[in-house]
Amino acid sequence: MDLTGALELPCGARLKNRVVKAAMSEGLADRHDHATHGHCRLYENWARGGAGLLITGNVMVDRRYLERPGNVVLEDESGMSRLQAWAAAGTLGNTHLWMQISHPGRQCPKLVSKAPLAPSAVQLDLLGNFARPRAMTEDDIENVIERFGKTAALAQQAGFTGVQINAAHGYLISQFLSPKVNRRDDRWGGSLANRARLLLSIVARIRKVVGAHFPISVKLNAADFQRGGFDLADSCHCALWLAEAGVDLLEVSGGSFEHLRLLGYRGDPDTAEDPDVAANAVKAGYFTDYALAIAEALQGASKPMPLMVTGGFRTREAMERVLALGGIDVVGLARPFCATPDLADKLLRGDTARAELCVQRHADGVLHRWLMRFKTYRVLRVQGEVAWYARQLATLAEGRDPEGDSSLALALVRHMSADMAHALRRKPPVTGMAN
Ligand SMILES: Cc1cc2nc3c(=O)[nH]c(=O)nc-3n(C[C@H](O)[C@H](O)[C@H](O)COP(=O)(O)O)c2cc1C
Repeated sequence: MDLTGALELPCGARLKNRVVKAAMSEGLADRHDHATHGHCRLYENWARGGAGLLITGNVMVDRRYLERPGNVVLEDESGMSRLQAWAAAGTLGNTHLWMQISHPGRQCPKLVSKAPLAPSAVQLDLLGNFARPRAMTEDDIENVIERFGKTAALAQQAGFTGVQINAAHGYLISQFLSPKVNRRDDRWGGSLANRARLLLSIVARIRKVVGAHFPISVKLNAADFQRGGFDLADSCHCALWLAEAGVDLLEVSGGSFEHLRLLGYRGDPDTAEDPDVAANAVKAGYFTDYALAIAEALQGASKPMPLMVTGGFRTREAMERVLALGGIDVVGLARPFCATPDLADKLLRGDTARAELCVQRHADGVLHRWLMRFKTYRVLRVQGEVAWYARQLATLAEGRDPEGDSSLALALVRHMSADMAHALRRKPPVTGMAN
């Protein structure tokens, strides 16, 4: 199967090709946490750029808890006209636009909340930027499930053509899945079945509100890459349950804020590799081998669930090689879409064989490799990189060309000041739903 082939999903929806723009947090919301004209401009650009599916960045289900200031929040009908405009822009040219919905749990910066929620009171250790979370009560958990359902229903009402539940990268659902963070001894913790209960309850709630023909996707870690964390065997089990639950597309990623394997960073002393997978590397994208193991496990499922893999794809050849292996149906790319909004068209037409990744030009010398041993440098370097890409998104949203050569340090300072200004501008949280 090449990249141009269409894909029919279990719910009946059809993706026009196999290239997906994976989620990237836009940070473009206004002071009410509503979508803005910037979202419309950015997604119109991408929709005209030829991808079969665009997945939005994290849209939050609760205004009190954000992954960063600038997240869109969708908890009621306020801001609906902007949301409709965003949906219209992102679905141009028969493009699918799915809203990624999310709750940060403990990965909620102090700038947003000094009392975040988590399955257990296990704090994120990241340069002191995150407060100690409060262990969620049974009511908190029920409230989160209800919120995911409500946000999905509102996304559907606004014209988004699907939703993706963010259960990866160390956010709340991923925290529940991880035995390292989830220390509960009630029905939400302990066995994998208990740890996966939140995810499966959210899938069931969303299916109930959106109906049988609306795509539901889940982004899941193949592993957290932390000793004692959620591992590949857990991920394979969860994938089977998600297939049985009627999920339409499972996106495979990995890591968290603590272990940024999602961006391809390795080498942290606490990183746990799967030896079988490491020995068999296909070497195209950094989660392909994990996704293939999940695809194999899915052969035991009674319902089909297409698979998507994201992370590190930069050439058309690698993407097609992965599709040709069988078991993986679509390929996601994120960072390359910041430099080249019409990347999908270019890849599909064969105008380019490579996705440009501008940030690789920065700081990859010997000194950088030596400094990467030190945690503070690692964290700042990764944050600088994320900031650099986030700056490109802001630039595209303003209708300007990507900035190319600006430094990571400058991008980080500008990104942090923008987040700070945004946090100060936000209206104080008022919430429509109880809890
Ligand atoms: C600036 C930036 C923001 C991101 N925001 C999100 C997000 O909101 N949700 C998510 O699931 N992944 C997010 N990611 C991760 C990407 O979706 C993707 O998994 C990762 O970048 C690896 O793919 P790539 O190598 O093609 O960039 C983000 C990545 C970057 C660089």
